[in-house]
Amino acid sequence: MLNELWQQRIKLIEEELLLELNRVPVINSTLIEAMKYSLMSGGKRLRPILLMAAADAVNGTGSKFVTTASAIEMIHAYSLIHDDLPVMDNDDYRRGKLTNHKVFGEAMAILAGDALLTLAFEVMLNQRGVSHAAILFVISEMSKAAGAAGMVGGQAIDLLSVGKKIDLETLRTMHIGKTGGLFKAAIRSGAILAGADNEQLTALTKYAESFGLAFQITDDILDVIGDEKTIGKPIGSDERNNKSTYVTLTSLDEAKKLAAEAVNDGLDALKIFGNEADFLRDLLNYILSRRK
Ligand code: IPE
Ligand code: IPE
Ligand code: MG
Ligand code: MG
Ligand code: MG
Repeated sequence: MLNELWQQRIKLIEEELLLELNRVPVINSTLIEAMKYSLMSGGKRLRPILLMAAADAVNGTGSKFVTTASAIEMIHAYSLIHDDLPVMDNDDYRRGKLTNHKVFGEAMAILAGDALLTLAFEVMLNQRGVSHAAILFVISEMSKAAGAAGMVGGQAIDLLSVGKKIDLETLRTMHIGKTGGLFKAAIRSGAILAGADNEQLTALTKYAESFGLAFQITDDILDVIGDEKTIGKPIGSDERNNKSTYVTLTSLDEAKKLAAEAVNDGLDALKIFGNEADFLRDLLNYILSRRK
């Protein structure tokens, strides 16, 4: 079920991404090309898929929210373009292709990221079939998750910890911010759009926190033992940049154990749901065996 539904959803999401991108009036075609280059270059599309899967868990309405789902993928694409820049992780490959700045230059890559971030918020306003209050809630979730108390804040800890031995608590805060933020916003937004009650929202929030943590721990593990061809980005980037990760601060085995613990916590949080949350369960289980 995992792969089939996943592929179906990717198709929906990518059609929507293209539609939204094509709606942007072109005053500079290079900028649009740079945005499209990173937005349409594959990827697992996990954040939009989780947004829709959360809505499915609440009441089966996932595909109704493909517009908001595509918006969060824009924020993610922007974060990757900036993350790969020479002043950040200085990586040359992403999803098996040259990174944005390698093709368009650093200045255009920065601008493409900026434009994707702002477009995301415009697209959130295009969501049909929900109340304005629900859209405002989503915008509040997304802006907090993407900003100084979320993704950007986590990236700041990441960069400032280069070459230093930070403690596990700081590492956890960094992971929860830089990666967990968007996962949490995706899942909470899907839940809210579908009209989740408090109990459902609390459970899905717990699931999201565990998902984000497990996901970034495995990202750290794959940076060491992954296969460059499969993963499509350079292996050993963290070591080259003297980054603190779960692998460097603990050990490969301990990191695997912590990822498995986070997965169990996330599954536990879904106890109040029946079969309607099976896709969420499958997605979380997949984290432990993922190769890309
Ligand atoms: C990579 O995210 C960046 C991290 C937060 C670790 P993904 O592994 O979801 O990247 P894509 O979109 O599938 O390429
Ligand atoms: C980045 O973490 C998370 C983002 C917010 C983009 P990493 O720097 O480990 O992500 P990868 O490994 O380059 O995808
Ligand atoms: Mg990074
Ligand atoms: Mg990186
Ligand atoms: Mg990484």
